[in-house]
Amino acid sequence: MLIKVLGSAAGGGFPQWNCNGVHSAAVRAGKAGYKARLQSSLAVSADGKTWALLNASPDIRQQINETPALHPVRDGGLRNSPIKAVVVTNADVDHITGLISLREGQPFSIYGSDRVMATLNANSIFNVCAPDKVARITLELDTPTPLSGGGSDIGLTIEAFAVPGKIALFLEKGDSSTNFGSRDGDTIGLKVTEDATGKSFFYVPGVAEVDPPLAARIKGADLIFLDGTLFTDDEMIAQGLSHKTGGRMGHISVSGPAGSIAVLQPLAIKRRIYVHINNSNPILDENSEARKVVEAAGWEVGFDGMEVRL
Ligand code: MLT
Ligand code: MN
Repeated sequence: MLIKVLGSAAGGGFPQWNCNGVHSAAVRAGKAGYKARLQSSLAVSADGKTWALLNASPDIRQQINETPALHPVRDGGLRNSPIKAVVVTNADVDHITGLISLREGQPFSIYGSDRVMATLNANSIFNVCAPDKVARITLELDTPTPLSGGGSDIGLTIEAFAVPGKIALFLEKGDSSTNFGSRDGDTIGLKVTEDATGKSFFYVPGVAEVDPPLAARIKGADLIFLDGTLFTDDEMIAQGLSHKTGGRMGHISVSGPAGSIAVLQPLAIKRRIYVHINNSNPILDENSEARKVVEAAGWEVGFDGMEVRL
């Protein structure tokens, strides 16, 4: 199984278009130790010919153009694509808006939770993925689902599970409630298994907390791509970028006693890679103390173009 990181940044990308914070300014200036990053998406394939995308970012056109494995096959006819399925893990802007670029009547399948499907169904712009050609398949949580699309089996099975998280920012209703209407299935994690070998990995790009059920699920895994949005819960406030904490945005922090380094440390996961990294996160600077802390703890910082074979 081959996994490609198409975009390792959180919503907004890195640099973010209107951000003049310390890290966005540094990467824009070409400062050593910084890499630009596109928004949150992976591609995965069992056979190298058919591919599933895990999340469809606003940068999808560039991501496809920069990834030859995702180009139309030369002798495959005037219109073709190796992308047969897109699985979305929540309704955030960085995860669904790329679907709009996958228009032009190309058959594939969209998989997501009932909560995410309700958002797609309520926004008619997503009908550019013609409903008679693009299947919308609601994932049953905790149920292995073989992926297929465009008339092809993909050789991968996914299991979606609800994780602690939050409704997409643009769906929040008012400021009076504490959870803004969030429910199970607003944010899911995925276990992706290659049918031929039984090898599997986890992809959890958004999670508010690694609670005991999630810890039990991922314990002993070969590989996880995890939410690396923020290093510390209040870093966006400290950098003057936002009034929100990570917790308020539904994202666990990397550091701290309840952070992902500490909570995953005893779980014996062989390979741990951060993705969905926000422009405020000091691990974006390869020369930072935060980056040293993360790497000393055995974590890798995902980057665009990163490839992992399982
Ligand atoms: C998030 O992950 O919290 C969102 O992508 C943030 C956003 O939409 O700006
Ligand atoms: Mn996001």
